[in-house]
Amino acid sequence: MNQLTINADLGNQTISRHIYGHFAEHLGRCIYGGIFVGEDSPIPNTNGLRNDVVAALRNLNIPNLRWPGGCFADEYHWMDGIGPKEERPTMINTHWGGVTEDNSFGTHDFFELCEQLGCEPYICGNVGSGTVQEMQQWVEYITFDGISPMANLRKENGRSDPWRIKYWGVGNENWGCGGNMRPEYYADVYRRFQTYVRNFGENKIYKIAGGANSFDYNWTDTLMANTRGGHGRFLMHGLSLHYYTLGSEWPPSLTATGFTEDEWFAILRDARRMDELLQRHSTIMDKYDPNKEVGLIVDEWGTWYAVEPGTNPGFLFQQNSLRDALVASIHFDIFHRHCDRVHMANIAQTVNVLQAIVLTEEGSDRVVLTPTYHIFEMYKVHQGATLLPLDLRSEAYAYGEASIPAISATASRDASGVVHISLSNADPRMEHLVTCRLAGVMIGGVNGRILTADTIDAHNTFDQPENVKPATFNGVSLNSNHLTIQMPSKSIVTLAIQTEEARL
Ligand code: AHR
Repeated sequence: MNQLTINADLGNQTISRHIYGHFAEHLGRCIYGGIFVGEDSPIPNTNGLRNDVVAALRNLNIPNLRWPGGCFADEYHWMDGIGPKEERPTMINTHWGGVTEDNSFGTHDFFELCEQLGCEPYICGNVGSGTVQEMQQWVEYITFDGISPMANLRKENGRSDPWRIKYWGVGNENWGCGGNMRPEYYADVYRRFQTYVRNFGENKIYKIAGGANSFDYNWTDTLMANTRGGHGRFLMHGLSLHYYTLGSEWPPSLTATGFTEDEWFAILRDARRMDELLQRHSTIMDKYDPNKEVGLIVDEWGTWYAVEPGTNPGFLFQQNSLRDALVASIHFDIFHRHCDRVHMANIAQTVNVLQAIVLTEEGSDRVVLTPTYHIFEMYKVHQGATLLPLDLRSEAYAYGEASIPAISATASRDASGVVHISLSNADPRMEHLVTCRLAGVMIGGVNGRILTADTIDAHNTFDQPENVKPATFNGVSLNSNHLTIQMPSKSIVTLAIQTEEARL
């Protein structure tokens, strides 16, 4: 029997809405074609940004967008992306397909995108191949309100008012594509670069240091040990962490669709490892920072499969199935559980790359919302809500010799007092019955939505964009203040529960 007890009258932690953040890199067809098509494109756009994609993202209340990379960030020279587009220098995107980057999408376009989305910009600056001066000038260009070389340049380029930016990354994966540094060395480099990431006027920057790859706990330990200033305070507000769900050893070899239960299980087991990672990295951070001043910023997460046959291997284009929806819901459940430390997370990546939420067809105006998109939409009720403590006893989903819990769950209370519970059943063959008690409140009413499909690799295509989409959930019943939830195999459900204070 699966039993879920939710303490609906307790809870003192807020689920940061920034856990629902995004990441868009100059990689394959994420920016070019996926988000930006240029003003002259026949695809309906506003200032070059696709109207369909912007509308889809706005519907998710996306809180922030990380740009321009990724590995691309540590090769990007921002000055190449400002001024008249026809005069901009080109560069080779060495990491991603060796294609020519024409720099037609630059700083002004990124801020236009964030304005259209109504989200916070998160820029990742170049440490690996950039200079301190270059990073310093970028911050000045964006945020300085007054007369200065960079503010004047911004005005010459058509933007008189400064923008506001909160989130600033000082390099990306500096243990690898961002410079192959040792943690001791990067800690010093970080200290130096961040000194010149200035707060101009009212603009206050939340500085994010490049963090560990997956299970590299030494990186986190070294950064935490070496990034305090003279006054004893940390010189960073956040420390990042990257973890991709592969289901196998590197390089990624599993396929996005057409897989067996073997690979279904491998992926879902790997997705659950995010919990162990957060636990262990947080424990190290607690040692140096018991008051949890430094946020853990999971600014790259998601599935990484072999690329789709016939596509450019450097473009990392993959389909997205019901399995990815489960991966996303499991990640959100885990992020919520660690929301005292996890202040932000960013799925890799928003459009056409890795675990994308939107796919666009090359050369046409057709788009597909992926099963992962629908999880972002079903879970958006948890953004900024109060995490409710819960106890979950789950039956096992056993496969061969191994097993994982079948059920994963999370619960929160929103500002109007409505309790939302999200649950998933990873078992691809068996329905699971969950009995659920909400301690401390009386249940007034309940309704829900479900995402499921007939096959484990069900996905949406340009010809059949609605194969996998949320539907009304009829599998919940209320009896003496208890809920019985009939979770079909391979499904994700979100319930909205009206509550009244419990009568003593
Ligand atoms: O998201 C794709 C790549 O994965 C990013 O550019 C890099 O940071 C990571 O290795």
